[in-house]
Amino acid sequence: MGKRTVIAGLDFYVPPKVVTNLDLQKMMNTSDEWIRERTGIIERHWAEPGVGTSDLACQAALKAIEKAGLDKNEIDFIIAATLSPDHYFPGIGLMVQAKLGLKDIGALDIRDQCSGFLYALSVADQYIRTGTYKKILLVAAELQSANLDFSDEGRDMSVLFGDGGAALILEADDSGDGRGLLGCYLFSDGRFVNELWMEKPSSRDNPTFQPEFFRQGKFFPRMNGRAVFKNACEKMPQAVLYGLNQLGLTVADIDYLIPHQANDRISQMVGRSLKLSEEKVIRNIQRYGNTTAASIPIALAEAVQSGLIKKGQLLALTAFGSGFTWGSAFIRW
Ligand code: ACO
Repeated sequence: MGKRTVIAGLDFYVPPKVVTNLDLQKMMNTSDEWIRERTGIIERHWAEPGVGTSDLACQAALKAIEKAGLDKNEIDFIIAATLSPDHYFPGIGLMVQAKLGLKDIGALDIRDQCSGFLYALSVADQYIRTGTYKKILLVAAELQSANLDFSDEGRDMSVLFGDGGAALILEADDSGDGRGLLGCYLFSDGRFVNELWMEKPSSRDNPTFQPEFFRQGKFFPRMNGRAVFKNACEKMPQAVLYGLNQLGLTVADIDYLIPHQANDRISQMVGRSLKLSEEKVIRNIQRYGNTTAASIPIALAEAVQSGLIKKGQLLALTAFGSGFTWGSAFIRW
């Protein structure tokens, strides 16, 4: 069977401040009822000013390192997935390296938004199976609350997102017991760039930062909600079926589906489209909102900690997001 990538440690961190739909109701023209009905979200966590995405990643990383029972000096590579880095450049991977006091190992940032975790996992898998690196720290973190448009124009987006981070320690296992990452399947279609994006800052503008862009709200993320909804409901099941086919498995083999928590209605529709019973679809968006790259590993960590996921079970992960990018990954736990 050869080497497989396994998760030796896994945990997550969300900032303590809880923001309910009722809190949002005081900030803009929205309602608890609208948000619950259309998205399933009840509350989310927001970081305080002064906290950066790299800080959320570090908090999760410290917990994952402890779970793995690892000396942090054993970590030989960092992969970070985020669309909300502390700075325009450099990325957060190297900030995690410095803040955790790790050796001067390589740090790679992945820019694939809601699919970022699956892309990061896929890259880590190549390094681990080829023996290039032995203990990879993968962090996926987002701090969205600092840059949302809380006016009525931005309310379709600003009610969706939450802040949080997750971290994994990945290593090789050659025990042949069948556990580990079975495969990652990644897709993109760049024709849809402007259906879900943050248009500015853009390298095409000279100068990049112009006051009128601020006035036009161009530094806020925007989306065509219906196009995103429709494509997410199509592409996530397609990616799962593609991966199952590659692995010689079927939907009946899946114990749990962990979809990117974009919107509860999307997760439910993806489950239905795959003909999976409701209890096989892991959903926690109610409490965290959409945490973009961090949403799948947060849901995975929670489900493992609650005892829901048991050794030997087959997990199908799937994501869809800005780009568009999408994909699936399969883990034998
Ligand atoms: N509160 C109250 N009313 C709102 C809000 C809000 N927060 N947001 C939009 N509305 C209004 C609209 O202005 C519109 O009003 P109108 O009828 O007077 O024009 C009305 O609600 C209906 O708007 P729609 O856009 O038609 O609502 P829809 O049912 O499509 O739901 C939603 C909007 C929830 C954003 C949906 O399109 C969606 O979930 N899209 C998927 C997007 C998503 O999940 N993105 C996450 C990021 S991407 C990712 O992670 C994959």
